[in-house]
Amino acid sequence: MKAQPVTRTVSRRSRASAAKASKIRVGLVGLGRRGAQFLDLLLAMPDVEVPALCTASATSRAAAVGRIRKACGTEPETYRRREDYARLVAREDLDAVLVTTAWDSHAEIAVAAMKAGKYVAVEVPVALTLEECWRLVDTHEQTGVPCMMLENWSFRRDNLAVLNMIRAGLLGDIIHCHCAHSHNCIPIWFFDSQGRPRWAADYLRKYNADQYPTHSVGPVLSWMNINCGDRFAYLTSTATRQVGINDQLRTLFGANHPAARRRYVQGDIVTTVVKTARGNTLVINYDMQLPRPYDNRWLIQGSRGVYSEAHNAVYLHGRSPRSEEWEPFDPYQKRHDHPWWKHLDPQVARLGHGGTDYLELRLFLDAVRDRTSPPIDLYDSVVMSCLIPLSGQSIAQSSAPVECPDFTRGRWKRRRPSFAVVG
Ligand SMILES: NC(=O)c1ccc[n+]([C@@H]2O[C@H](COP(=O)([O-])OP(=O)(O)OC[C@H]3O[C@@H](n4cnc5c(N)ncnc54)[C@H](O)[C@@H]3O)[C@@H](O)[C@H]2O)c1
Repeated sequence: MKAQPVTRTVSRRSRASAAKASKIRVGLVGLGRRGAQFLDLLLAMPDVEVPALCTASATSRAAAVGRIRKACGTEPETYRRREDYARLVAREDLDAVLVTTAWDSHAEIAVAAMKAGKYVAVEVPVALTLEECWRLVDTHEQTGVPCMMLENWSFRRDNLAVLNMIRAGLLGDIIHCHCAHSHNCIPIWFFDSQGRPRWAADYLRKYNADQYPTHSVGPVLSWMNINCGDRFAYLTSTATRQVGINDQLRTLFGANHPAARRRYVQGDIVTTVVKTARGNTLVINYDMQLPRPYDNRWLIQGSRGVYSEAHNAVYLHGRSPRSEEWEPFDPYQKRHDHPWWKHLDPQVARLGHGGTDYLELRLFLDAVRDRTSPPIDLYDSVVMSCLIPLSGQSIAQSSAPVECPDFTRGRWKRRRPSFAVVG
């Protein structure tokens, strides 16, 4: 990976510990389902150690300690209370911190980690409000410490091949894009198997917004050169009424179940249209509470061609064999395969979310080891996350246009694309 050396970055303490120890020492904050998946990946990497972890759940803590003991023969120090993350990030022996807590604590922990001079990787979204986004940007700029949001779909093999095709000019000048996160998470994530609300269900009762935009928008940022040649200028969002949450809960647990009787304000489908400074458009769908197969509906269209994930096909004007007819994407996938995937161990490529979890984590850790910039920078992380509050604002104002902040403070005009640039 071509990576920019991080100059004004990590604390001297942290640099010294990295130089001394051959292993990368990672502290974990939050060890629920996602944290446990990342712990397995970390334990499979011979150059990584986990000397400390912090989670409020006693069961998760005990399970994680057992796994570390079994895999490495070491005993991590554990922190129990939610506010203990501050003591964990301050440890002198850590090189990086991995945050997989509930959404409301991501920005706070990331800010504390950057202030303590630790590289930090944070699960999606990195922030929930514009204030949090700016606090992250300010802290990053004051400390020079990197912070990466772990948006795994940016690392999908097909999405990276599409990026290579765009960079090779096959689609011409990019004009328009569509993406969605269509994933029914009511029975598997917002509520448990008894219909008891998990923490994320609270957001369905309190907010009406695109609550989870990063999995749809992740690959799109680099396809559209957002933050490096273009930027989100303004957006409008519209939400449908809500039927899916109550209907599914009634069907699963009965009409008298407390969760089925509650009122949820989150509309079933949110459609956001973003206009960019260059005059391009992006349509994003939130679609997480109606029963349906998983789908991202990625589509990117330029002056010379179009890629459609749903069709698994491309049309390249003047190149495709039949005029204005789809041709299969697979040969293009092979021809434009990204080096990250070409060199990936096939065993690893079977791990978490088709290998994307391993890839994003490995690239983050390589950046920690080499003291370079991680593959997703903080500006891209906050641009993806700010769609949550901005879509909520637009919906609350009858779909009125809402301006998108320029977190790069004008630098998007001269910044060069860096995501997935190799060589
Ligand atoms: N990228 C993906 O594919 C993917 C998949 C699932 C979840 N996620 C994300 O991962 C994150 C975690 O989701 P999950 O499903 O693992 O949730 P979870 O509820 O299973 O785990 C969260 C854990 O964090 C702990 N916690 C909360 N606040 C804490 C704090 N301040 N300090 C220490 N521990 C704290 C909780 O006790 C819990 O154990 C979310 O941001 C979610 O959106 C991403």
